[in-house]
Amino acid sequence: MADMPFTSEEALRSFIQRYYQENGVSSAVACCSGDESQERAPGQCTCYAPEQLKSLPAELLAGACCCGNPLKYAQLKPGEIVLDLGCGTGLDVLLAARQVQPGGVAYGVDMNEVALGRAEQYRRQLGLENARFLHGIIEAVPLPSESIDVIISNCVINLAPDKERVLREAYRLLKPGGRLVLADTVLEGEPPARLQREPRAWATCLTGAISAAAYRELLAAVGFQEVVVELASRDWGWPPFVNQEERHRLEGRWLSASIRAHKPSA
Ligand SMILES: C[S@@+](CC[C@H](N)C(=O)[O-])C[C@H]1O[C@@H](n2cnc3c(N)ncnc32)[C@H](O)[C@@H]1O
Repeated sequence: MADMPFTSEEALRSFIQRYYQENGVSSAVACCSGDESQERAPGQCTCYAPEQLKSLPAELLAGACCCGNPLKYAQLKPGEIVLDLGCGTGLDVLLAARQVQPGGVAYGVDMNEVALGRAEQYRRQLGLENARFLHGIIEAVPLPSESIDVIISNCVINLAPDKERVLREAYRLLKPGGRLVLADTVLEGEPPARLQREPRAWATCLTGAISAAAYRELLAAVGFQEVVVELASRDWGWPPFVNQEERHRLEGRWLSASIRAHKPSA
């Protein structure tokens, strides 16, 4: 935590928790939807096919904060058990719940009780009996070891102070042969010094992000195999507190990543 404006991991997690509870998961200043000057239309996240989002409540679409679409690569099958780390208001959990029917279950875990309340309300609206929302932290998920077929996450792990701990927890939870399919932000190179001291820059998925190479190394160190990290340019704006010079310095280095890996089969 040397260069960070937080005295401990707990202080950082509490800041992130408060930030998303007070601003909303997708409020324009909250996260990857970024640019305060632009209004975010429902379903604006271009990572999902419009047919996939049809029939979902507009409020749910407007409330999501994605930086990719983990479900595109998760290849969910009926009967599978899925877990979304940092599910927010539940978009990916609810989409996953449909895909694993019949017989499967989609769990979402988040530390934001306000977001979880909304997620539960959408679940009821959609009549999805096989979606479950859990209150907790992604570093210590209240589920048994080797109980999950597929772990997904969308724009969350960059926010964690100790990413290795989160990936170890994912490894614990996955069944042998289970899949990890993440969408996240990555940052190649160092952020400008002023932003390193700006707590909102961590909360908006910028300064907590690590490089693609660091992600690969961490996943391999934890024991994951067949690691793939694919980068794409981001489709979100700049947080309003990032000035022109900093934007220029960060251009092309703050990216969207699709990250996939397997836990080895027993
Ligand atoms: C950028 S939002 C993404 C929400 C959701 N995945 C989506 O795509 O709409 C980040 C979410 O991660 C949650 N989060 C961040 N760090 C967490 C942690 N350590 N444990 C549990 N939830 C966390 C926040 O509460 C917030 O809901």
